[in-house]
Amino acid sequence: MRLSDAPLIGRDAIADRVRALAAEISSDYAERDLVLVAVLKGAIHFVSDLQRALTIPATLDFVRARSYAGLSSSGSAEIFSEPTVDLAGRHVLIVEDILDTGVTASAIFTRFGAVNPASLDFCTLLDKPSRRKVEVPVRYTGFTIEDRFVVGYGMDYEERYRGLKDIFVLEGLD
Ligand code: IMP
Ligand code: MG
Repeated sequence: MRLSDAPLIGRDAIADRVRALAAEISSDYAERDLVLVAVLKGAIHFVSDLQRALTIPATLDFVRARSYAGLSSSGSAEIFSEPTVDLAGRHVLIVEDILDTGVTASAIFTRFGAVNPASLDFCTLLDKPSRRKVEVPVRYTGFTIEDRFVVGYGMDYEERYRGLKDIFVLEGLD
């Protein structure tokens, strides 16, 4: 098991794309009461960069979810914590590191849809559409990638590699 020699997505490309997403979100949510709900732990660096690139105010909160044990999706998602801010009547944007089978995202949609937000949308840095098992309405996507296991910029393999500044492919896993 080793990291790809070159990053799949380098830090400059990440920074450019995050800025573009932030510009789009700032325009779409201007004059709205925006709450960013980041999914721990993988989205931590993404949401940190995204919020600082917004030109509008936003409340930040977190939810912890897990659908993965190692490499294979368990097919169900556990949601470990609830947001601490009241989401009712507010514009909620869920922020994820990577959308894979869609199981986690759809569990979060169901949970947060129940608290009557004014709107509920989804922003993911990476999307692996070829792996989808459950349809998820995605409003903002950073990059669409092939079915490769990636690490870095928040994303882990068994809790390693989250601190890398670039996104790499983890090779030799099977
Ligand atoms: P889903 O429920 O299958 O969509 O899983 C989404 C979650 O699985 C992501 O938020 C990640 O935490 C994890 N995940 C999926 N693919 C990868 C990957 O390539 N690298 C690291 N984590 C991944
Ligand atoms: Mg995640």
